[in-house]
Amino acid sequence: MSLFAKKSISSLLAQAESSEKGLKKTLNAGNLVALGIGAIIGAGLFVRTAAAAGEHAGPAVTLSFIIAAIGCAFAGLCYAEFASMIPIAGSAYTYAYATMGELVAWIIGWALILEYALGAATVSISWSEYLNLLVGNSIPYEWCHSPFESFKDASGVMHHGIMNIPALFILLLLSLLLIKGTQESARVNMIIVIIKVSIVIVFIAIGWKFINPANHAHYLIPADAPPAILPNGSEYSYADFFRHGWGGVLTGAGIVFFAFIGFDAVSTTAQEAKNPKKDMPIGILGSLVICTILYILFSYVLTGVAPYTDFVKAGKEASVAYAIQTYMTNYEWLAKLVSFAILLGFSSVILVMLMGQSRVFYTMSSDGLLPKIFSDLHPKFRTPYKSNMVLFVFVGLFAAFVPVSVAGDLTSIGTLFAFILVCLGIIILRKKQPDLKRPFRTPLVPLVPILGMIVCTAMIVGLPGETLASALIWMILGLIIYFAYSRKNSKIQSMGEIIPKASDFE
Ligand code: ALA
Repeated sequence: MSLFAKKSISSLLAQAESSEKGLKKTLNAGNLVALGIGAIIGAGLFVRTAAAAGEHAGPAVTLSFIIAAIGCAFAGLCYAEFASMIPIAGSAYTYAYATMGELVAWIIGWALILEYALGAATVSISWSEYLNLLVGNSIPYEWCHSPFESFKDASGVMHHGIMNIPALFILLLLSLLLIKGTQESARVNMIIVIIKVSIVIVFIAIGWKFINPANHAHYLIPADAPPAILPNGSEYSYADFFRHGWGGVLTGAGIVFFAFIGFDAVSTTAQEAKNPKKDMPIGILGSLVICTILYILFSYVLTGVAPYTDFVKAGKEASVAYAIQTYMTNYEWLAKLVSFAILLGFSSVILVMLMGQSRVFYTMSSDGLLPKIFSDLHPKFRTPYKSNMVLFVFVGLFAAFVPVSVAGDLTSIGTLFAFILVCLGIIILRKKQPDLKRPFRTPLVPLVPILGMIVCTAMIVGLPGETLASALIWMILGLIIYFAYSRKNSKIQSMGEIIPKASDFE
């Protein structure tokens, strides 16, 4: 049987309909937009904005956000067409199965692990860092860092990480919530989203009055900008092409792209949406638009309140609290509130990422490509509870033992790779099956998907070489598993290829 065996869309639709014993359909349009925002606003906004502004883009980090948003919008439009047409939990994996065949689908499913599982691990590590900041660094270094991290304290004593316990704790808590139910999880997510968006808006509104026009005087970093002086006395120079002007803006876009990851996770809940045809595009595109507006305003205010050079030398992950404490007198309470919002914000990102991962595994397992344990549903809650538990262990191992820097960029690669293939899938399906019913149509095909592929490829190329090498090793491991296990157990390989007819869909 062919490596390019495709799943027929008619069988996919039948699978989506037969939800009697499957995942519960509980989510409405509001829940879906909230899930998107829940997954989107997190470490990218609260931590990476300052890093991108301080090291590469300056106040023009707002333009970096716009560029990254345009790339995401192209991909988002393609996701919206697929998710409204094929409301199956597998998201990009399923779309690839229907358009490019099993091997490509497997590759995408494997890449999505980088996005969702590793994304959850990355943000849980940031969650742990932030918790430690909030409690005045009172958690012993050993118990909130991986064994690969170490640091020398003021008295010259070396500390080595052993295990990141707070990261494990938040992963366990959210995994238990996911097992309890999708609706319960969506409800908790909704509350978190309302709080974190409100605090972001309060920061924008109050911070606006503290914008110092001098900080925005050079909107793009000039080529001859004086270097920033680091706390250890060394200099951070802006002379490099990627540290000023448009070169810096583009590098900044690659960094803040992380802040948009998650809108696609909405599509993994398509099977649990009450009315996916109408509500999937609303959830995906609505959350993307709302977050883009908030991001641009937020980064405009942040770089207006504090000079961008501050973010190279101070603040780091607590950059927002730093800017408030240093430049917004009498707003100490806002710094505390923002830190609280960040902790909550990270929690919802982890929640939706874990949910997305378990749904992709659910579909891959239903197709026979992964063991059955990943599609076993809880008899009462009808959630993939065994998958949630296995994921907790898997993601927890990453979070407890791997340093955050390695995980973050791998997350972006996995996501960008999925975006590229989803864009390609739209072009293929429009050609092969032009008559399919499409509740939402991506505009200007093939231009929009082609632009999506170009922007996402450019962002992959801009990532560090070691990250690309790690991603390659990950993909080779995936291929070994595919040929050793999945291909032999694939349901479609044992049933025979089904070629869909346009009449199947009318
Ligand atoms: N977009 C998510 C975040 O910024 C992954 O944390």
